[in-house]
Order: sequence, then structure tokens, then C-alpha cells
Amino acid sequence: MAPLDPHSFSDSTNPPTTDVSLSLYFDFPSATIHGVAFFILAFPYAGELSFDTRSLTIHQVLSPTDLSPLPFSLSSSPDPIKGTQLSISLLPEDDDTAFNSFFIVFSTSPSSTALQWLCPPQTFNKKHPFVYTQCQSIHARSIFPCQDTPAARIRYTALLNVPRELSAVMSARHVGRRPPVSGEGHSHLLPNGFNSLWSSETRVVEEFLMNQPIPPYLFAFAVGELGSREVGPRTRVYAEAVDSVLDAAAKEFAGTEEMIRQGEKLFGEYAWERFDLLVLPPSFPYGGMENPRMVFLTPTVIKGDASGAQVVAHELAHSWTGNLITNKNNEHFWLNEGFTTYAERRIVEAVQGEDRAILNTGIGWKGLKEEVEKFKDNLEFTKLKNNQEGVDPDTIYSEVPYEKGFQFLWRIERQIGRPAFDEFIKKYIATFKFQSIDTERFLKFLKAQVPGIEKDIDLVLWTEGTGIPPDAYEPVSDLYTKILSLANEFKLGRMPREDEVADWRGQEWELYLENLPRVLEASQVLALDERYRLSESKDYEVKVAFLQLAILSKCRNFYSEVEKTLKEVGRMKYLRPLYRALVQGAGKEEEKILAKRVFAEARECYHPIAQGVVESILAKHI
Ligand code: BES
Ligand code: ZN
Repeated sequence: MAPLDPHSFSDSTNPPTTDVSLSLYFDFPSATIHGVAFFILAFPYAGELSFDTRSLTIHQVLSPTDLSPLPFSLSSSPDPIKGTQLSISLLPEDDDTAFNSFFIVFSTSPSSTALQWLCPPQTFNKKHPFVYTQCQSIHARSIFPCQDTPAARIRYTALLNVPRELSAVMSARHVGRRPPVSGEGHSHLLPNGFNSLWSSETRVVEEFLMNQPIPPYLFAFAVGELGSREVGPRTRVYAEAVDSVLDAAAKEFAGTEEMIRQGEKLFGEYAWERFDLLVLPPSFPYGGMENPRMVFLTPTVIKGDASGAQVVAHELAHSWTGNLITNKNNEHFWLNEGFTTYAERRIVEAVQGEDRAILNTGIGWKGLKEEVEKFKDNLEFTKLKNNQEGVDPDTIYSEVPYEKGFQFLWRIERQIGRPAFDEFIKKYIATFKFQSIDTERFLKFLKAQVPGIEKDIDLVLWTEGTGIPPDAYEPVSDLYTKILSLANEFKLGRMPREDEVADWRGQEWELYLENLPRVLEASQVLALDERYRLSESKDYEVKVAFLQLAILSKCRNFYSEVEKTLKEVGRMKYLRPLYRALVQGAGKEEEKILAKRVFAEARECYHPIAQGVVESILAKHI
């Protein structure tokens, strides 16, 4: 056994899967998917093949020729991080042939970690159920068995069999929607009578094709009562079919085509044909997820200002950095997120101006310093390249790979100048597109393209060292400096005047609040809210930054607002700081009781990944 990836049972001596065809029957009442998957391997193979699974039932593994059963086994107890290893014996009866394909018949379970099943009351329109995926980093294995490592890239086709009143989107080309056909896609192999339900007249099949190879973490679908609006020549925005939601989304993302054009200018042709957006229900655990052809977004980005576009710019940037060039495993995650944060800011600079980009850099700089402080007892995760053996990527998720990665690339840009760096990035993308690479590969390419760079920049310190290197750089601009000095004056007792904040948008407030002392007098918190009503802000970045300050300052007047917020959104960027503020530190009995009660009541509304993350925050402190 030669592992490829600390988070996968995939074996480097096994052939990688190149293609998978999925037939999936969605059973909403039991929150289960029953599936048949047909796998094609890169070359014929005789021997043991190792796949990842989590919370799956494997009914059968079948030979491609006569559908005879192939022996398989599952590891006896699941690894808490990697899940359950599936070993398949690909040993044909006559030894002179080897298989390069096979079938697996399987079912998911309601505890499959990639899937959130929402019942009608949890949706906007309250009429129909909804289900969606979040596969990054290592949850694809809870939907179908696979070599769940970004070192492997697969093409896929999928037949999604769903109730007729629902529709589906995927990270793939939509081939069509039509009545199901009995037995298609080997659906006759489905277990427990679902083979005959496949072609019931209450059902419909949505067919998809992804013919560009993608890492498994970019596999994605959503099924619900969906509507859409056209917002550009290659962009439609999807959401639940509620006019007010769709209209607001269409307005928010009207500038998308302009961003795609800027992206193409900077990084080369957009490779994925369409760039559609899906706005999810409020429990979506991230701000955005870069699923190719169909970016997933939290509804909290719809607030009618520039920050919604920032998240879209980020996910769009992944179309080059992340989706074309992918980190080989999560230990090199900065190659995905650091590059994308850099690319995002270049797009924001092009469409919204330098001031906005600098403000974002400043918010990131503050975030980086705080994360590094938080990891002071675990410095490993302040390194760009780090050791994740035995580590759950969801629990160490932080801004470090984003902001330290950004700082590293920005440092190189300052060294060689922007025109040369622009050329470098274009060449980097053209060279490694559709490949999965590691930090060494990047450094080797950098040194070849920029001879002598290691004499000017300590590349080893940047990629392997802990903390923030001395040549990292805090941004400067009039607006940024002004906001920081106002935050400083607050410490001396001066609140900003109305005329000073008159044209502030969410990001200005966010930067201001994040630069206030972490603990204030309760009376100061109250005074700030009385003047500027931050606790009622429609912008969750502002509201959460304020509520975090209120909790840390033990200003209990705002605890009902904290509870309400924790119950209405499931984005982990908001759950983490609020729960942490409640439970961290001594003398917090009342806050801990509140956190436990709210989590018990809200838990069911969170995506399984968010449930796990909050659980581990509470477990650490209670
Ligand atoms: N790929 C990430 C989300 C992610 C990371 C999911 C790791 C699972 C594991 C996505 O591109 C992202 O970074 N989203 C940010 C957007 C922000 C930086 C603009 C988010 O969700 O906050
Ligand atoms: Zn990202």
C-alpha cells in the first residue's frame, strides 16, 4: 500500500479512475440516494483496488462483462477522518484478462456528510424539499465510492432520477430533462425495488455530462424547486423558484460577465464554457464553492453592495487556480486558495478599483494576524505547506492558506514587477492546466522562470516556515489608513462622526470593527450600537463582527440577537466566531449554557459539515 494523500485510502499503485457514470435515484422521504456507478480505470488491472467511502452501503460490485459479483470488503471500523476503506478484488476467473471497468451498486445514508436534506419548512418557498452537496474537502466519498483525492481527476456522466415537480443542477453540462426509461443507465441493478420505481410516472430524469476531468471534490448537485434568471451571455443565476430571491440575485450578479472578461485578460481563456451561479438556502456552510460550471453561493452574499461580487470574483478565479490547476492533496491547499485570493483581488481591482482591492487585502491582513495568534499552540498550521497526517481538514480550516498564500504571491509580484508576474501566472496556468501539483512543483517552476529568485526571497521560509515572514506587507491606502486610525481613536474614547462614516459600506465597517480592541466596556458596545445600529445590519459580515465584539465584551443585551443569527444562517464563517466567542475563556458559564442550548436547537438546520465543526468547537471548550 502506497498512500497518495493523507486523507484518502487511494493507493498510488492502483490505476486511477478516469470516468464514472452514475445513475442516482433520490428518495426524499428516507433522505437516501440509491445508485449504480460504472467506473473506468486508466488501464486494465488485476488485483486489489482501494476506494474511499463514508456512510455508504455497498450492495454489490459487479464485473463489466457478465455482471457477475466481484468480491469486496469494507474495513471493519471507520477511520474518524477518512471513513471506510472499500477493497475490491479485481481478479478475473481466467487469469489472462484484467478488468479496466466494473459496477458498484450502493446507497447513501441520511448521515452522508456531503449531503444536506432540507424538508419544506427549511426552504424559502416552504413547499418542496431540497438537497445539495458540499464535497470539498473529503466528502465526495459519502455520495459515491471513489478515489477521493484531488490527485485523481475524473470525467462523469449522471442520470439523476428525481420527483417530477423538482429539477436539478450539477457541476456539469445539462444534457436534458425527460421521462425516465426503464433499465437505462443499468438502473435495473438498483436495490430494494428502486429499480422498478425508476420509471414511475411521478419521476423525471435530469441528465448531465462533465467531459473535462475534475478532482472529486468538485462533484456537485442540487435538487429542488429551482428557477433561474439570465444575467449574461454565459451566466444564469439559479435559486429556489421564488421571484423575490431570483430578482435580487439577478441584480446582485449583473456584473458577472465583466468579471469573467477581466479574468480572461489576466489568466487566459475561460475553460468551462458556462459560468452559472446557484444561490442556496441559508444553511449553505460556505460563502461560495467553486463547483465548475455551477458555483454555489450562500444567500447572505445578496445584499446589494460590492462584497457579493467579491465572493463571485473569488469563485470565478478558481476557474483557473484550483479547478484547472489543483492542489495534489490538502497539504498544499494554499496553491488553491492563496492563488485564488490573489486572482480574486486582481479581478476586484479591475472592476471595482484599487481602493476596494486594498480594503480587502487589509481585512485579510488583520485576519491572518489573528489566525496566526489562534494557532500559537499549533504552529504547524501557520505553514503554507503543512503536515495533515491524522488531521481533519474541516477542523483546521483557516485564513492562513488564503492570506499567507496571497502575501507570498504578492511578495513575488513586488520583487519582479507586475508585468513580469502577470506573464508568469499566465505561463503557470498554461503549463499545469488539468493537472494536480504540489508546492515543490510550483517552486521548481518559479525558479526556472525567475532565475535567482531564491536569492531575493526566502522561499523555504515562506513555504515551510511558521508565522508571518518579515517581508510580508500591510497594505496602504488613504481609506484603509483612515479606518484604522478611527479604530485607534475609539480606544481613546472617540466614536466616528456620522459624516466620517456616511459613505461606508459593509467592508469599511467590517475593517473598523475588526480593528477595535477585542474586549470593550459593555457601555461602549451599547453606545456604538445606539448610534449605528450594527446589531441590526442586513450585512452579516458587519452584524457578526459586532455580535462577536458584544459577546467578548459580555454585553448581554445582544444575546437574543446572537441566538437569532445562529438559528437563521449556517455559514461557518459566522458560526465559528460566534460559538467560539461564547465558549472560549474562563468565567463564561452563562455563555456556555447558551451555546449548548442554541446548538441543540439549531443543529438540525446546519449542514453536516457545520454540525461537525461546531461540535468540535464546543467539545474543546466545554
Ligand atoms: N473552496 C472554498 C470553500 C471551501 C474550502 C470548502 C475548503 C471546503 C473546504 C471557496 O472557494 C472559498 O474559499 N470560499 C470563501 C469565499 C471567500 C474567500 C470570498 C468562503 O466561503 O468564505
Ligand atoms: Zn476559495
